[in-house]
Amino acid sequence: MKTILITGGAGFIGSHVVRLFISKYPKYKIINLDNLTYAGNLENLRDIEKMPNYEFVKADIIEGVTVMEIFKSYHIDGVIHLAAESHVDRSISSPMEFIYTNIIGTVNLLNAARAAWKDSPENDKRFYHISTDEVYGSLGETGLFHETTAYDPRSPYSASKASSDHLVRAYFHTFGLPVVLSNCSNNYGPFQFPEKLIPLSINNIKHNNPIPIYGKGENVRDWLYVEDHASAIDLIYHRGITGETYNIGGNNEWQNINLIRLLCRIMDKKLEREPGTSERLITFVKDRAGHDLRYAIDSSKVRKELGWKPSLKFEEGLEKTVEWYLSNEEWLTNVTSGAYQKYYDEQYLKR
Ligand code: NAD
Ligand code: DAU
Repeated sequence: MKTILITGGAGFIGSHVVRLFISKYPKYKIINLDNLTYAGNLENLRDIEKMPNYEFVKADIIEGVTVMEIFKSYHIDGVIHLAAESHVDRSISSPMEFIYTNIIGTVNLLNAARAAWKDSPENDKRFYHISTDEVYGSLGETGLFHETTAYDPRSPYSASKASSDHLVRAYFHTFGLPVVLSNCSNNYGPFQFPEKLIPLSINNIKHNNPIPIYGKGENVRDWLYVEDHASAIDLIYHRGITGETYNIGGNNEWQNINLIRLLCRIMDKKLEREPGTSERLITFVKDRAGHDLRYAIDSSKVRKELGWKPSLKFEEGLEKTVEWYLSNEEWLTNVTSGAYQKYYDEQYLKR
């Protein structure tokens, strides 16, 4: 039985990866290491938390000694590293957490893997680092991010992720650590914290609150349904070539304002409101500092080499996402009220 450490498994993407691996690979033992920051929510994993091949470990990747001990006591064979501070706006108001978690935390994991695996045969272990397309900077009207595009991060968040990517590659080249990396575009779907554009807007529309659009809403993002990211992670973890990087994206570019108009139409339909009701909530606000204009991913490598492709069209994925948020009112209420942060104490500490 292989033991895989998934970091950040209580977060948005991590919870989908944990769920996929738990159900698809009953022979893997999955250790979910998460510090439960504001973004970590064990309610995201309520449906699988009692599975025999799942274990949750509350720990902070900033604590190097703790990370080493976890590697020793669990005999970790593979790492899928998603734990991070992930929200650009928070990195603008409070950069240091991003430096500690995204850079120091990643190095602590690299050091622990290196120490634990020093006598392991080649190809027996794997350290998979999950990163973002934001490391490539901002595109103009045309062009795509390729795996070979030079790094040009422009926010404290993307600079911290770029640093971690460089360090992961440095441990491959210098120490021979068996790493693989991927850089993905914007994810959306169930369990995303309502500080990000799509869930924030769904929640605001539901409560008839203004939908804040930064600047003129002209910025473009390439959106991918979160389960499609998880399926790419599964393929890359198992079949990606050591030392390689794979770009993952939906080939699905939307200007923010057009995306929000589509979302408003879906919300009007689902909430049985007069067409045009939700659009009246759109409110243009001060732009994000250093706001990257456009991201767009060339994902042909993972498509051609590993046979990955997204399963959903954006309109379908967005409708599914809206339905999920509207039918999971308790989850949304707990997240917005802060009640979700008691789940660990109630479910785990009492055991
Ligand atoms: P998220 O913010 O929803 O979740 C992050 C998780 O990491 C949370 O559960 C949090 O508790 C945990 N965490 C944070 N600091 C920690 C620490 N010091 N120790 C242990 N755990 C800690 O993030 P997400 O959107 O799910 O993103 C996951 C990963 O994917 C990140 O590395 C992010 O950079 C990357 N990514 C995200 C997107 C996206 O659109 N969301 C796209 C591409 C790449
Ligand atoms: O590209 C991948 C990245 O996508 C990930 O690495 C990040 O972790 C993830 O947060 C996301 O970053 P963005 O900054 O693109 O996502 P966000 O949802 O914050 O914003 C999407 C776009 O919408 C962006 O152009 C900013 C804009 N926006 C965002 C918010 C929260 C608004 O106009 N209004 C808002 O209230």
